[in-house]
Amino acid sequence: EKGGWPSFMDKEIHEDPEAVGNTLIGRFNTAGDIVLDEVRIALEDFKSIDKIIVVACGTASYAGMVAKYAIEHWVRIPVEIELAHEFRYRDPILTPRTLVVAISQSGETMDTLMALRHAREQGSRVLAICNTQGSTIPRESDAVLYTHAGPEIAVASTKAFVAQVVAAYMLGLYLAQIKGTMFPDEIRGIVAQLKAMPAKIQWVLDTQCETVDKAAKRMLNAHSFLFLGRHVGYPVAMEGALKLKEIAYTFTEGFAAGELKHGPIALVDEGEPVVVIVPSARGRNTLHNKVISGIEEVKARGAFTIVVAEEGDPDAERYADVVFWRPICPTLLSPLVDVVPLQLFAMDMANLKGYDVDKPRNLAKSVTVE
Ligand code: BG6
Repeated sequence: EKGGWPSFMDKEIHEDPEAVGNTLIGRFNTAGDIVLDEVRIALEDFKSIDKIIVVACGTASYAGMVAKYAIEHWVRIPVEIELAHEFRYRDPILTPRTLVVAISQSGETMDTLMALRHAREQGSRVLAICNTQGSTIPRESDAVLYTHAGPEIAVASTKAFVAQVVAAYMLGLYLAQIKGTMFPDEIRGIVAQLKAMPAKIQWVLDTQCETVDKAAKRMLNAHSFLFLGRHVGYPVAMEGALKLKEIAYTFTEGFAAGELKHGPIALVDEGEPVVVIVPSARGRNTLHNKVISGIEEVKARGAFTIVVAEEGDPDAERYADVVFWRPICPTLLSPLVDVVPLQLFAMDMANLKGYDVDKPRNLAKSVTVE
């Protein structure tokens, strides 16, 4: 039931904090070590994993892209992301030391299921990150990490995305723990930062809704949107673009901010809305400065800029037409908060256009055909 909310999507976005908090619960044994839900892989085999390939579709694939940044940094093994439907048709390199991570909210997406079957036939192990207990994908996997987002009814995925990102972080920390690539204290430090994320997401929901709504009203007649981000902001840009496409039927393109000068800037002219995810301003690091100069570039060509930036970032205020603020948080964890205003923005745009935000045309919640 909608519990008083105008739509399931509205309700589910407001459950983002809970989805993150609940996905962290029950992940630790009495000694404080990270544990997975189901593991049918010997510890020695798990330790020997030397490559990860994430297979997923849609929103789940963007959760996988976020995982790449965190897991490569923490575990020092290569992580590839592959759209599940492309995977088995290109003769991927799979060995017993490859861990294939299948991410799926429903656990029934046929493209993802066929990819995991192919991986297992080739002798690789499969770990599922899934929101639906007992569904096909976890049943056919060698290990499972459930996201505890609760049932997601709206077709466009919101709370399941943040829960998938958390589960992927937990997988990274688990691998770091068993492979010894991080000190236990470092792992505990990140877990503590993760536990602080639900309150930060709540802050976004409590303070940014009005700004987001106003921005949607101003942008109602826009025909297209560009979304750009760098580092973990890149998958967030992709996901923000997907949300708006899915439910507001607006032509969007998400891309890595560094690509701007290699093509997409040709699309920018007077009034073109450009949404930019700006990394932390702390220390005014190179990453931050490079994204800010991207905003300057598009502004100089007349773009209307909507920016997601860290609270108090003076550069964001200077160059953006609208700012959605994020509270201070570690860069690797920032997708958990940065995606929230973009989910709200897509929902507001669709509502203002009079569309059914829960049941967008032509889409199904779970696609059980290839
Ligand atoms: C699509 C849904 O068909 O499948 C998306 O419309 C979803 O919202 C994608 O992200 C993947 O679904 P699942 O259940 O495998 O996460």
